[in-house]
Amino acid sequence: MVFTQSQMLNLLFSCRNLRRSEEIADMILLRYYPQEAAACRLHARDMAETIRSSARAEDFLNSLNGLKTELMYQSFVHGQTHAERVAVYSAWLGLEMQLSRQEFLLCLEAAKYHDIGRENESEDREHGPRSAGMIGSACPELSEEERRLLQAVIAVHSLPDRERQQTFDCCLGARQSLYAPAGRLADILKDADALDRFRLNNNSLATAFLRCPPSRRLIRAACETVNL
Ligand SMILES: [Fe+2]
Ligand SMILES: [Fe+2]
Repeated sequence: MVFTQSQMLNLLFSCRNLRRSEEIADMILLRYYPQEAAACRLHARDMAETIRSSARAEDFLNSLNGLKTELMYQSFVHGQTHAERVAVYSAWLGLEMQLSRQEFLLCLEAAKYHDIGRENESEDREHGPRSAGMIGSACPELSEEERRLLQAVIAVHSLPDRERQQTFDCCLGARQSLYAPAGRLADILKDADALDRFRLNNNSLATAFLRCPPSRRLIRAACETVNL
């Protein structure tokens, strides 16, 4: 698997020289997440191998190689490498949750472009709706239904849960068949985004807030990936 514009993804998917990041993650988990240190045995290389050997491997590679880097917010915290890691975690979760190919592809687009509307590094609850508003130009190939679904998923990622229904109503209207997929993909994006909180501080991930059952199994892999 060769990524044309990401050193980080090439390093992760080559599965070489990962020993150091495994040792760092071990120290962090033992200190801040002792329960997870014992329970999470899945490494970054296992996560990468699952994606590489899956039926969606080519879709994943093409999607990540198609990342429009010029749209990325320029920052280490919310920029390209963050979007790429969120896409990797989303892909693994999407496989675990047996998403259809269409949902899997949309899940990757959500990960890639969820923070393009950022204007600063602070709390800013409006960056989700702003990113959603930019999705038409980021992904012009989408059908109207796909675009609305993606906008709903991206808009709610920065908003409190109590605003989810209202935001879905606003983006999806009477298209009832889109509400369940929107909820599924929004939960995946929230968890994948949260798993990348290891980039902030070693103890920044609040594991109690993870929504999708498989997400807890990714804690070690996420901690290793950010320390590549
Ligand atoms: Fe965000
Ligand atoms: Fe994010």
